[in-house]
Amino acid sequence: MRFEIAGRIKGVSYAIRDLVVHAEKLEAEGKKITYFNIGDPSLYFDTPDHLKEALVDAVNSGFNGYAPSEGLPELREAICYKEEKVNGVRGLEAEDVIVTAGISEGIQMFLGAIANPGDEILIPGPSYPPYVSFSKFFGANPIMFRCIEEEGWQPDLDDVRKKITDKTKALILVNPNNPCGSVYGPKVVRELISISGEYGIPLVSDEIYDRIVYDKEFTSTASIAKDVPVIGFNGFSKAYLVTGWRVGYMYFYDPEEQLTELRESIEKEARVRICANTPAQKACVAAINGPQNHIPELVSQLKERRNFTYKRLNEISGLSCVKPEGAFYAFPKVETMKWKDDMDFVLRVLSETQLLFVNGSGFDPVYGKDHFRMVFLPDLKVLEEALDKLESFLKKNC
Ligand SMILES: Cc1ncc(COP(=O)(O)O)c(C=O)c1O
Repeated sequence: MRFEIAGRIKGVSYAIRDLVVHAEKLEAEGKKITYFNIGDPSLYFDTPDHLKEALVDAVNSGFNGYAPSEGLPELREAICYKEEKVNGVRGLEAEDVIVTAGISEGIQMFLGAIANPGDEILIPGPSYPPYVSFSKFFGANPIMFRCIEEEGWQPDLDDVRKKITDKTKALILVNPNNPCGSVYGPKVVRELISISGEYGIPLVSDEIYDRIVYDKEFTSTASIAKDVPVIGFNGFSKAYLVTGWRVGYMYFYDPEEQLTELRESIEKEARVRICANTPAQKACVAAINGPQNHIPELVSQLKERRNFTYKRLNEISGLSCVKPEGAFYAFPKVETMKWKDDMDFVLRVLSETQLLFVNGSGFDPVYGKDHFRMVFLPDLKVLEEALDKLESFLKKNC
């Protein structure tokens, strides 16, 4: 057969899952791998019963066909209620919400509607990889702005301003952040809003970890944006422990109706892909309207795991780690990089200790370099054993 793969695929990568190939090779040789690469809380915390029941009920009561492309009306309404009640975003109506197959699909749809070849997308460095991959897929250039490790991985606002050009099509923020675990306070969020307003650049705020914060209160961008429009991304995967259901959403906070054309373009894309999973959407209405007490419980257990991981990582000679304030990731620095690079480090750790982490340059080759990302979702015993093994590895090799 004679064919050539499209050039756009060259820019597509997802370090978090790409690394699994190496782990699977070792598993095929009979080794037992402990995975610290994927941020899937449902592997460690059970999905609440009322959500499981709501999904079964949805199937049994006939929610098995296609849904409207923008999402089930009752879910779109419930999302407006949640965003106002939990995050203080006022004025959203059901028509402002599009339900997607996870935020991941929303990222693709948004960039598909806004990015032309040669355009620039401003993204925090380091960052959640799909923002970079989908920018490249559509021929745009991801431009990473620096997040400052010494300042708890807060965005360098001067760098954001410096990197704006007449090709900049969107400014992305991820708060709380993956992979750094940083939480941006109202002052930083306000600055980013005013940059977006000043330059007229659409502002995207990915808030998937809005309920998972430990020390600070979370500030939703749209809740303080006043007249500046915001495209909010959120979903059910993390706080509701239903990663595999693939339900997320984007909303248009648009008090001055500046996003109408963008919204209509994304609605067109939504129609082409038909709809998000119907029974899961129905069950997500129950997620919003039902009991929420699993969330504080989840956060309290994660806080214990965060405290342990942070303390232990900083006790290991050769590593240093900023305290994660939200989400469930630690992003330590390898102080003396004795290996070829962070990828080599992660692969050596994998082959000698059977622990799988993600190399920092998978989140950005410049600002993530010489780091690795570790999820702290597993229970304390697993974390303790893993960090002991990591310590021995560094003692032996440094
Ligand atoms: C910052 C961020 N956004 C989006 C996602 C994906 O969310 P979803 O499951 O809704 O596609 C993740 C998953 O790890 C994430 O870390």
